[in-house]
Amino acid sequence: MSNTIFEKIDSLNPLLDIVALKKAANILKNDGLVAFPTETVYGLGANALKEEAVKKIYIAKGRPSDNPLIVHIAKKDDIYPLVDSVPKNALILMDKFWPGTLTIILKKSSIIPKTTSGGLDTVAIRMPKNNIALALIKECGFPLAAPSANTSTKPSPTLASHVYKDLNGKIDMIIDGGSCNFGIESTVVEVLDNKVTILRPGSITKEMLEKFVDNVVIDSSILSTNVNLLPKSPGMKYKHYAPLGDVFIINGNIDNIVSYILDSLKNDKINNIKSLVIASDETIDNYSSFDVLNIGSRKNIEIIAKNLFNTLRECDNLNMQKIYIESFSEEGVGLAVMNRLKKASDYKIIEV
Ligand code: TXA
Ligand code: MG
Repeated sequence: MSNTIFEKIDSLNPLLDIVALKKAANILKNDGLVAFPTETVYGLGANALKEEAVKKIYIAKGRPSDNPLIVHIAKKDDIYPLVDSVPKNALILMDKFWPGTLTIILKKSSIIPKTTSGGLDTVAIRMPKNNIALALIKECGFPLAAPSANTSTKPSPTLASHVYKDLNGKIDMIIDGGSCNFGIESTVVEVLDNKVTILRPGSITKEMLEKFVDNVVIDSSILSTNVNLLPKSPGMKYKHYAPLGDVFIINGNIDNIVSYILDSLKNDKINNIKSLVIASDETIDNYSSFDVLNIGSRKNIEIIAKNLFNTLRECDNLNMQKIYIESFSEEGVGLAVMNRLKKASDYKIIEV
């Protein structure tokens, strides 16, 4: 593939850019690949019902073929042809959280190709809350399989420029719809009639789900630091979100964290290693004589989540060899932030 078309579309009113929208839909109708914004991260879309189309996603991303894709729909009723049945708990969650950042896994129907579901007999479905995504799916008239639009293992894209950097020349079109509101991927849940299991934490937390359904559990592999425990969600077992440099999470009392990182930065300087610290509003002043990126205030974990992937990508732009990041509390959305960070660090967590 060669020329990737790049078009801006108004995220408040995509129909103002109907020509670009129709161009994107036509590409998708011809089994091509289009990256588009969602409220979480940019997705790399293809016709979810066409094997030939979906195969191209795996190739463009360099994604392992056993890692299933999320199928995106434009209205709640579009779920019915895609699944075997919709249990009561799934209906409740769709009603409360769609459109939004919740992906629901159910038994798939026969119209979902095995390539879309990574060989599994289940399928992951989400109705995004982004006008461009919704208008594009409607214009296509079929659901869009869309993983995050990054090269496999890289941090997910929260800006069109991130997609361009990873996939220019490998896909047919990139729609620029500005920055993503949440900046961290959806919460993925597997729903059985009497049990809801969180397979990937996101901005919709266990506490939020528990307001509407009973028996919410978090898959044990997310809470464990045992890297050998195999997660139920295939994508969670792979190295992910990683910049080129080595990432170290420093965990402990905040004063100890700061002094450990300062010592490390000093040592790196002596040894000619390019390193930086990802710090918070509360601690940044301590690092004024070193390279530092600010990820936001500890008092607002949602903003930290939104800045996370862009900050990790910035480390590559700066050619950093070592990246130290202060750990965050795993309360609420903090669980999702720390989950992505642990993977980015390949579980290099230093207790101080
Ligand atoms: O926010 C999001 O979810 C974004 C936007 C584009 O919607 N998409 C996204 O897709 O993050 P992706 O492919 O990067 O991550 C999908 C995750 C993977 O961890 C995958 O293994 C898991 O969902 N998944 C998909 N289908 C599954 C299934 N049937 N069973 C278990 N896990 C599944
Ligand atoms: Mg991804």
